[in-house]
Amino acid sequence: MTRLTPYQPLLFRIWHGASGILVIGAIISGFLVYNTFDGRFGKIIIPKINPIQDIHGTFGVFFLIVLPFFAVYSFHAGKHRLLQRDSIQKLTQVGKPIWWVSLQRLVNTSMLIAAVLAVISGRMMKEEWLPSGEFDHIWYYFHLISWVIMVCCLAIHVLMSAKVGGVPLLLSILSWKLRPEDSPKNWYSRFRSWNIRGEFNQFIAGSLLLKSIEVIVLGGIITAFVLPLFFSGTGG
Ligand code: HEM
Ligand code: HEM
Repeated sequence: MTRLTPYQPLLFRIWHGASGILVIGAIISGFLVYNTFDGRFGKIIIPKINPIQDIHGTFGVFFLIVLPFFAVYSFHAGKHRLLQRDSIQKLTQVGKPIWWVSLQRLVNTSMLIAAVLAVISGRMMKEEWLPSGEFDHIWYYFHLISWVIMVCCLAIHVLMSAKVGGVPLLLSILSWKLRPEDSPKNWYSRFRSWNIRGEFNQFIAGSLLLKSIEVIVLGGIITAFVLPLFFSGTGG
């Protein structure tokens, strides 16, 4: 492997790979939930899968567990791949390579926002609604819309990554290769040298836009965990 081959840090590959598999599972199983019980906006004729809600709930819950780790990683170790201070200004240079890169970073960032919309609305859904034909709950509509947003963002995310880095970049997130300096053996020493105050100062000095998005995304994930506790028992 030459140094020119794109290389993704192991931690990124773990969190991003887990999120990717769980999101694709949630998108497919979510569609099958809709197809089994609802189908008002179009339907494919396949046998009904009765335990599909449980299968979908399992993908959803695991994604919710992985998401805070991936989000914290992305906003700190991976922040060079999210929106930058000058990204919006660079978006005016339509068609230039920097335009594509800025667009890719914008779309990377929007994946985290789309994920938050899906997990908050999913957490507010009740298992009893769809089997008993109750399709008019506002949270169900939010959850359906977040499915559409997630599918669009994911498609653009993969296309943008292909445009910016081509097949080598796409393959780099699937690769099992490990650089010695990235070995888990060094994680403990790297963790010990990690300076929370330095990280906090960097956060404060960072771009206001990215800071606001970080607060929205991390706040949204916490909301997804706790909001259902306040609504248990009510219809929503
Ligand atoms: C057409 C699309 C979708 C439909 C019809 C749908 C339907 C549902 C239903 C009925 C529940 C409640 C299940 C239960 O309580 O066991 C649920 C929960 C959930 N869904 Fe979806 N979903 C869709 C798409 C998605 C997508 C794309 C994601 C994430 C990327 C997602 C994430 C979640 C999460 C996190 C939960 C909460 C699981 C829990 O706390 O038990 N859903 N969804
Ligand atoms: C088929 C699935 C996917 C593919 C092929 C893919 C591809 C990629 C690639 C190639 C990168 C690296 C970009 C670079 O190095 O410049 C990346 C970054 C990223 N992806 Fe994905 N992705 C997928 C699914 C997802 C999902 C489901 C999410 C969100 C839940 C997501 C969120 C992100 C984020 C936030 C980054 C930037 C990470 C960072 O800041 O370190 N991706 N993706």
